[in-house]
Amino acid sequence: MFENEQKLIEKQINAYLKENGLPEAAIQWTWIPFSGNWGMATSFFQLAAQDAKAKGVKMNVGAHAQEIAQGIADIIQLPDGFERAEAVRGYLNLYFSTKDYSRRVIDTVLSEGNDYGKGAPTGERVMVEFSQPNTHKAFHVGHLRNVILGNSVCNILEKSGDEVVRANYLGDIGLHVIKWMWCYLKYHNGEKPAEDITRWMGDIYAEADRRHHDEPDADAEIRALFARWDRRDQDIVALWKETRQWSLDGFDDIYDELGVKFDHLYFESEVEDSGKVIVDELIEKGLATDERPEGAVVVKLDDLCGTKDKYRVLVVLRSDGTSLYATKDLSLAIKKFEQFDLTKSIYVIDVRQSLYMQQIFKTMELMGYPWTKNLIHLAYEIVNLPGNVTMSSRDGTVVFLQDLLVEATARALAIVNEKNPELPEETKKEIAHTVAIGALKYSMLSRDNTKIVTFDWEAALDFNGQAAPYIQYAAVRANSILRKAGGVLPGSLAPEYELTDSEVQLIDLIARVPKEIQRSAKELKTLYLANLAYDLAQVYNNFYRNCPVIQENENVMNYRLRLSAAARQAIIVCLALLGIDTPEMM
Ligand code: ARG
Repeated sequence: MFENEQKLIEKQINAYLKENGLPEAAIQWTWIPFSGNWGMATSFFQLAAQDAKAKGVKMNVGAHAQEIAQGIADIIQLPDGFERAEAVRGYLNLYFSTKDYSRRVIDTVLSEGNDYGKGAPTGERVMVEFSQPNTHKAFHVGHLRNVILGNSVCNILEKSGDEVVRANYLGDIGLHVIKWMWCYLKYHNGEKPAEDITRWMGDIYAEADRRHHDEPDADAEIRALFARWDRRDQDIVALWKETRQWSLDGFDDIYDELGVKFDHLYFESEVEDSGKVIVDELIEKGLATDERPEGAVVVKLDDLCGTKDKYRVLVVLRSDGTSLYATKDLSLAIKKFEQFDLTKSIYVIDVRQSLYMQQIFKTMELMGYPWTKNLIHLAYEIVNLPGNVTMSSRDGTVVFLQDLLVEATARALAIVNEKNPELPEETKKEIAHTVAIGALKYSMLSRDNTKIVTFDWEAALDFNGQAAPYIQYAAVRANSILRKAGGVLPGSLAPEYELTDSEVQLIDLIARVPKEIQRSAKELKTLYLANLAYDLAQVYNNFYRNCPVIQENENVMNYRLRLSAAARQAIIVCLALLGIDTPEMM
């Protein structure tokens, strides 16, 4: 908000320090919350201590800091928008003019619109790998948290100023695919999925799993098919390609529904051979122990690192020379950096793979790659259904996205019908869909990613609690005030009246958006923005209840209209970072 002014002030401070033979320092500002004024402050303690040390004299550091702060307060020329400077206990406090500041915050949000909070380019190119479903299998709610989290993290990093490459990594080979093809050839040959592809693929997988378990010949047949695959039997490869595409089409439908896009797709099949080459390299370098034919090829990480029970042993190739999950990840990590010249590589993966990820990262480090400090595992916890049912494809407790959406949309539609019965049916349906998707996403993003989400319909669709519909509804209210006032936003103005508490809080929260974006990006936490959106909605609702708009005098009305528009814009920005749309009406 005050970047230029801040620079001017820092210049003056540094000039003062120089003139007085004091050490120069990077000036850190902290925020002064509203107490009649907003402001910013900086402390001179560290500088005073440094000075004392440099001069080798004993002095009272507190008093010295205060002396410096006072000296600066005396000479400083305050830029426009600042009201006064004071030196208190070693701090220099600079107070903004409340009127000017309240005008500026609103002007900034409204002029920047959806770009509000965008950070300057950081020069970082970050790849975020997320979603990573296995083809030929179902896509359930556990996978959903990954997509929703990964997508939001991408939005946040991008907004914070990073260049982001959105990557997916599809598990398109392995036993599960062979098993699927075996079942297909034997019992479904010639069939094609018509609609709801992912469910159909998942059903055949479940059937394959069951038959594999029940049928005595299954194991031998599956192994024979695996051998054909290994020989790259043309018919099998062709079937694999075709059926894999079905899965990809099905996943695309899901991504469309969720509004998620990828810049690059990786496939497990493309890093298998290159992975084996890396295993050879590991053996050559003496990092991997080749225990074939009796055993596998392993990297004894604890032995190599001198640790105990920390990294354990990573198996990188089977005794029969076939590849493993790890074989491919070694190659994938390198490929990413080489292809995209990354500065950072983030993996959004289930928390249960944490040790595994550390093993991969450590192995890369031992191989001497320079970027291994910039490999990051963003772990997330599982999603439970109410009643503590874990969603898993094996025990049949899977809930599909489509089922969830159908249910969510029906519930949301019922609420919209109640609130706004006169809207056209089509509009109601669209709103219900936006509300349903929002409810789903928010319930997963408003919890720390390291905590389990227990999915609960009542809570997710709560119009009165910490849930997306409540937040969306606050923005819709702001919109309806603006519509009532004729739909034309008044031009920039400062409030000529004493702001109420909820107005002060609103301005505070709106001004906090850019900082929270930076903090979320740094810590990879969507939670901060989910909370900020909720706080904005809550305070806006207080404002809506307590501060009349239309019936007030012109200055009050116009300022409050702009404040409403700004609050709405701030909510839209926060929700958009979570991948959630804000409807115009509800
Ligand atoms: N497809 C894997 C699974 O379903 C997840 C892949 C995660 N990414 C990775 N680079 N290992 O478990």
